[in-house]
Amino acid sequence: MAQLFDPYTVRGATFRNRIVVSPMCEYSSVDGFANDWHLVHLGSRAVGGAGLVLTEAAAVSPEGRITGADLGIYRDEHVAKLREIVTFLHAHGAVAGIQLAHAGRKASCAQPWHGGARVTLADGGWTPVAPSAIPFDPADAAPRALTLHEIGDVIGDFVAATQRSLEAGFRVIELHAAHGYLLHEFLSPLANTRTDAYGGSFENRTRLLRDVSSAVRAVLPDDVPLFVRISATDWAEGGWDLEQSVRLAADLKPLGVDLIDVSSGAAVMHQKIAIGPGYQVPFAERIRADAGIPTGAVGLITEATQANEVLVEGRADLVFLARELLRDPYWPLHAASVLGAEIEWPVQYVRAKPQPARV
Ligand SMILES: Cc1cc2nc3c(=O)[nH]c(=O)nc-3n(C[C@H](O)[C@H](O)[C@H](O)COP(=O)(O)O)c2cc1C
Repeated sequence: MAQLFDPYTVRGATFRNRIVVSPMCEYSSVDGFANDWHLVHLGSRAVGGAGLVLTEAAAVSPEGRITGADLGIYRDEHVAKLREIVTFLHAHGAVAGIQLAHAGRKASCAQPWHGGARVTLADGGWTPVAPSAIPFDPADAAPRALTLHEIGDVIGDFVAATQRSLEAGFRVIELHAAHGYLLHEFLSPLANTRTDAYGGSFENRTRLLRDVSSAVRAVLPDDVPLFVRISATDWAEGGWDLEQSVRLAADLKPLGVDLIDVSSGAAVMHQKIAIGPGYQVPFAERIRADAGIPTGAVGLITEATQANEVLVEGRADLVFLARELLRDPYWPLHAASVLGAEIEWPVQYVRAKPQPARV
């Protein structure tokens, strides 16, 4: 079984280890543009030794942004700064990946540090779109249900965003189909009450994600891996659940999806989550075993030995870390010391590398 510092190859991409920087919104863009914050933030984590550095959710359309300050990839002009960032990440030994997203009914909100509430039209926001006219927060105005024609446009937006991502040099594409955003909303009966080909049965609710996956795969070169992040369960009665996730993962595999990044929750406000260290790992394990597809484990993985065990026990193929990598961008360098793995430090930092005790 693999160890944390074993390389991982998927299609034409080889990560130097199994540590992934989980996507993390920075809410620091103007009109979707990346800037020096993103270069330093993502760059530090490449210098810190992660194998794969994923960007935050990059919106595929302006109305697909959670906030007006989200990163975007809906204009050709977005590509240049992203290319500079990708070049830096690759120069420092990480593989650069991008998460493509549409916020659906959770769009048009304030940045978290401004309270995160819905921004109305009067305050410069926009009307969110969703599978059905059901708000996430019952206190908010309902989103507008997408027409069939507009669903086609969303698929087109994901394809165009993929092409821009390739131009920027990203070597991994991840589709965000988790956390109650648009692609997840179509999956969940709690957000999707459509009666057309995109709602109702399991086959219909999963259609949009399958359509987007196929359309994106069709424009990706064979050597570029495609990941999909899902919420394995809504943690709510009558919602999306693990059994459906296993079925979905098995359906995505033949469409050319290479790995399921297994998160959970955030579809509805009344969710009841049983939270604790590694609480989502059992979902990654189950999908890996029963759908026969590689998985990433994420959620409260903070210790080197804990991360290593997930891999050694065959519960996932990659470990994604978010908050721990905010606390410590050099976590991978420290984890290597803890696990006794011999890895290269950035040459500029070698004088600080812990040396084995002399006898
Ligand atoms: C500041 C912040 C921003 C986040 N933004 C995203 C995002 O853009 N896309 C996503 O899929 N998850 C996002 N997440 C969720 C993380 O990727 C991760 O799944 C979650 O924090 C659990 O992992 P952790 O316990 O290692 O933090 C975000 C989390 C944080 C803390």
